[in-house]
Amino acid sequence: MATLLHIDSSPLYERSVSRQLSGAFVDRWKSLHPAATVIDRDLNATSLPPVSAEWVGAAYTPEEARTPKQKNLLTLSDTLLAELARADEYVIGAPMHNFGVPSVLKLWIDQISRVGKTFSYADGAPKGLLVGKKATFIIATGGIYDPQTQMASFNFVEPYLRSVFGFLGVTDATFLTAGGTAALNYGQDRAAFLAPHLETVRSHAQGI
Ligand SMILES: Cc1cc2nc3c(=O)[nH]c(=O)nc-3n(C[C@H](O)[C@H](O)[C@H](O)COP(=O)(O)O)c2cc1C
Repeated sequence: MATLLHIDSSPLYERSVSRQLSGAFVDRWKSLHPAATVIDRDLNATSLPPVSAEWVGAAYTPEEARTPKQKNLLTLSDTLLAELARADEYVIGAPMHNFGVPSVLKLWIDQISRVGKTFSYADGAPKGLLVGKKATFIIATGGIYDPQTQMASFNFVEPYLRSVFGFLGVTDATFLTAGGTAALNYGQDRAAFLAPHLETVRSHAQGI
């Protein structure tokens, strides 16, 4: 049965553009797959520790040789990896924070980038192990970073996500960006601003 993993990373909840758009994707996806499962992983409601030397040591220790303490250190990572493995499709809401991804999204990526689980160097070359997955990234940015603009080189969100997920094997990736959300702080009507983005997201969820 189809399973969608829905990730959000904006701390702004009801004011968040990326959350509203990823929510619209999920609603449309559910209407198309009524019997399917959606796994919601709210990164702002998940306690995500930074990786430590002990965590790295545990991740690089062969599974059968891990101590109970090492196994314990990897529990959260194992849970997050199981969600990625179980889902065949991902929708990931990502606000731009200081030209990059929010810290909680980076912490999650650090937890799910695991040797032997999501990537390997088995033959001396990196190989992504998250194969056969389809991902939609929904990005919201205060400014506008379209390729032809002066600010394009400041956008470390899309290139980073494309690179890291590509490295992990997720090459079927679509990036939908709502740029210029700062206008909402200066009187721009929210419904009017969001309408074309909601349309794009819903069409994409529908495979149009
Ligand atoms: C902590 C923080 C840092 C931000 N940094 C940037 C930035 O570097 N560039 C930018 O264009 N907008 C920046 N913004 C604005 C957000 O990208 C914008 O509000 C966007 O809508 C966030 O997505 P969200 O609405 O889903 O939270 C920042 C917002 C916050 C809260």
